[in-house]
Amino acid sequence: MNVWPLERPVVRIAPSLLAADFARLAEEVGRIEAGGAEILHLDVMDGHFVPNISFGVPVIEKLRPVSKLFFDTHLMITEPLRYAEAFVKAGCDLLTFHIEVTDRPLEVIEHIRGLGARVGVTLNPGTDVAALTPVLAEVDLVLVMSVWPGFGGQKFIPSALDKLRALKPRLRPDQRLEVDGGIARDTVAAVVQAGADTLVAGSAVFGKPDPAAAMAELRTIGWQASCGRD
Ligand code: DX5
Ligand code: ZN
Repeated sequence: MNVWPLERPVVRIAPSLLAADFARLAEEVGRIEAGGAEILHLDVMDGHFVPNISFGVPVIEKLRPVSKLFFDTHLMITEPLRYAEAFVKAGCDLLTFHIEVTDRPLEVIEHIRGLGARVGVTLNPGTDVAALTPVLAEVDLVLVMSVWPGFGGQKFIPSALDKLRALKPRLRPDQRLEVDGGIARDTVAAVVQAGADTLVAGSAVFGKPDPAAAMAELRTIGWQASCGRD
């Protein structure tokens, strides 16, 4: 189990495997790991919560022995309680579930923690941040979706910036604020200035000829933007 690097308030890029070449997964992961990545964002889609199906437990358990990266798993599934254990056993370090899928989010959080993993919660672009109020103090990470989940390569939705600004002062220093969707050279500075510290990037990393260099460039832009932040 990886230790989540909670202590340092720096900007991290979390490359999303969704944009990688699925015929060469281990090689793709190795390239960004060699390039200094700490986190791998894993987008799990069930074809119910989102209109797409990606990959699941068998793929993650095969990647686990070949990578030391922190497996940040974004569960775009309707039944996180049913599948959480399988994902933790496969080697996921953190499971993020959608607030839209449950009326009992504290139960989901307790269940995931009981499995020994870190917990994140996320919300769709159409969901108000107020929906997170009952669980904010209980999670390790809050993920703000800046596109409708289901597909990579979409355009960044600017209202995500207001959500980041609203959430940032409500989080402790040990809680991460992540943003996911449409993150690229032209959006990094704005999300960092709005308070995000962990930036998911699919197409802007794995969609580039040199993913490690693309990741490093985004990280530099993010670091520069964070210098002007409180
Ligand atoms: C969308 C996923 C994202 C996606 C981001 O459902 O949650 O993580 O991979 O892709 P880009 O960075 O291409 O917008
Ligand atoms: Zn994601």
